[in-house]
Amino acid sequence: MSIRLEHVSFNYASRKAKSTPTLQDINLEFKDGEFTAIIGPTGSGKSTLIQHLNCLIRPDEGKIFYNGENILEKNYPLKKLRSRVGLVFQYPEHQLFEDTVFADVAYGPQKMGLGPEEVKKRVRAALAMVGLDDSCHLLHPMRLSGGQKRRAALAGVLAMEPQALVLDEPTVGLDPRGREEILGEIVKLHREKKLTIIMVSHSMEDVARYAERVIVMDHGSIPFDGPPREVFARYRDLEKIGLAAPQVIYIAQALRRRGYDIRPDVLTVTEVKKEILRVLKGGDMKCN
Ligand SMILES: Nc1ncnc2c1ncn2[C@@H]1O[C@H](COP(=O)(O)OP(=O)(O)OP(=O)(O)O)[C@@H](O)[C@H]1O
Ligand SMILES: [Mg+2]
Repeated sequence: MSIRLEHVSFNYASRKAKSTPTLQDINLEFKDGEFTAIIGPTGSGKSTLIQHLNCLIRPDEGKIFYNGENILEKNYPLKKLRSRVGLVFQYPEHQLFEDTVFADVAYGPQKMGLGPEEVKKRVRAALAMVGLDDSCHLLHPMRLSGGQKRRAALAGVLAMEPQALVLDEPTVGLDPRGREEILGEIVKLHREKKLTIIMVSHSMEDVARYAERVIVMDHGSIPFDGPPREVFARYRDLEKIGLAAPQVIYIAQALRRRGYDIRPDVLTVTEVKKEILRVLKGGDMKCN
């Protein structure tokens, strides 16, 4: 699986209007099996970008390739593309519209033309994968809690057995337990099913913990793209565009300023803890 964007530009306003485009000359490649996070201030174009990946939005300029084929070509099979590149929206309510959870999850596989037995099998498997048990299957989707709605939307995409899972802020608005649960599901899908994950997130902590690559968006462009350790090391530049690094980086920097020899590129709580213990053991860290 690979997705490549070449010189992609897009503007919600008419092309004649002289406003700055929402996406400006984006060049990107997503490789098979990668866990990529997309971060950026509000309005920077994250949701707009990911809707290009399965052609829900067509760019004004540029090309988009899925497995080497240009998805913007006239007869490209978009239905198939949308089952391969599964998109979970920022607001799950936008994705749930049937009368029962089961029917909702069945919608995608049915549209793929699968037989009723195969559809049922996939729906059950997808709902089990996201931890929604039988008691939820016949409920109206709007009766679900925020976290459950998100799981149902995720199940609807998983039932199509996609190669890539594109998630727009899957944890926003959830309590810590709900966040951990849904993130756990996503990480499991990445590790066990080898799904390519592209996840928009506002949580730098989640990004630092799980992503192998971070794409930073600002005003429709991509100023930084690289491993989290490298991207977050540029926290001063991130601050200039209204972002921040994970808290532990600031803790590590504060300790370094006081003369403690903490590695400057720690990313997670576990790493900073290990560093503090190492320095303490070396007798290098004293209270002042
Ligand atoms: N349907 C639309 N019609 C017109 N303008 C839009 C539409 N959707 C988004 N925009 C504008 O395009 C820009 C990028 O929006 P987008 O939703 O992609 O940003 P985002 O990075 O996902 O933001 P957030 O973090 O708030 O979700 C914003 O200025 C937004 O107001
Ligand atoms: Mg968005």
